[in-house]
Amino acid sequence: MDLSTHYLGLRLPHPLVVGASPMVDNLDTVRRLEDAGAAAIVMHSLFEEQLSIEHRATVYHMEIYADAYAEARSYFPEASDFALCPCDYLNQIRRIKQAVAIPLIASLNGVSCGGWIDYARQIEQAGADALELNVYYVATDPIESSAEVEDRVVDTARQVKQSVNIPVAVKLSQFYSSIPNLCSRLEEAGVDGLVLFNRFYQPDIDIDSLQVVPKIQLSDASELPLRLRWLAILSSCLRVSLAVSGGVHVAVDAVKSIMCGAEAVQMVSAILRNGPRHLTTVLTDLRQWMDEHEYSSIRQMKGSMNLLRCPDRGAIERANYMHLLQTWREPV
Ligand SMILES: Cc1cc2nc3c(=O)[nH]c(=O)nc-3n(C[C@H](O)[C@H](O)[C@H](O)COP(=O)(O)O)c2cc1C
Repeated sequence: MDLSTHYLGLRLPHPLVVGASPMVDNLDTVRRLEDAGAAAIVMHSLFEEQLSIEHRATVYHMEIYADAYAEARSYFPEASDFALCPCDYLNQIRRIKQAVAIPLIASLNGVSCGGWIDYARQIEQAGADALELNVYYVATDPIESSAEVEDRVVDTARQVKQSVNIPVAVKLSQFYSSIPNLCSRLEEAGVDGLVLFNRFYQPDIDIDSLQVVPKIQLSDASELPLRLRWLAILSSCLRVSLAVSGGVHVAVDAVKSIMCGAEAVQMVSAILRNGPRHLTTVLTDLRQWMDEHEYSSIRQMKGSMNLLRCPDRGAIERANYMHLLQTWREPV
């Protein structure tokens, strides 16, 4: 059985990739992930804010501000909150490349065009095999239009792509008015792949201390269907590589993602919860499922349920939505 896949031009023995997370900070964990069978690993992100000298000054002011107004402190990261400084990040790439043989995808997290983009070249020189650009952004300014937000995403991606020779993927959120339009503009800008989707971490509020309480919740399988829909739509109209990120916990989740068009299946929460060996279980189960259902390769399965090939196209588009709402009955 041929489980191999091509993601971002990299030939992987199978689609299961460890998504961006702090797991890469520990070399021992990285080795365990490789031993467990990971096809590739994505590093956690290096943030634009860490790289921009101007912003360092802002962080400094924020820290002063936060000291003066204790309730404001929880809004702002302090410089020491970042796991690795930019120099450590490059060293960690070198260390990981020496420690394991699987491809390493570095991650830059930023939303503006600026000097920090040059860092992509240093990431390439340090030995990363590809680069994921996470364009996490929360639009809070009523004057800023969606077109401006999207133009910036495309310009940033284009500049990052132009700075390096390694493949570049963009990790998007689902909060755009026309995802296919933005994605085809990114394809035109030269990006090699898209990661669907970023998770937005929702801050909670402590009503006694009047503080914002940032918290990360690990995902569950309920996050997958949104990704499946967009994989199915985008894989029918784009040529770039697609990776799913969010809600993949077991082999069947990977099967669904591949059928909708994913070339790579990223997992984080399931591995954080169950440890690196969980990857081995998912890989074994994937192989067994394919065997039982007489699939001989990932290639054969890939995109079989995308918008062009899905037997019920309306189920992905609007028709099923109307049908479901019209036919809902209160449970008896
Ligand atoms: C603790 C933690 C740290 C993460 N750090 C990053 C990061 O640095 N950059 C990034 O792009 N995504 C980061 N993510 C998001 C994951 O890469 C992934 O997109 C998300 O967890 C959804 O996938 P999952 O359902 O498999 O967990 C992080 C997730 C977790 C749980």
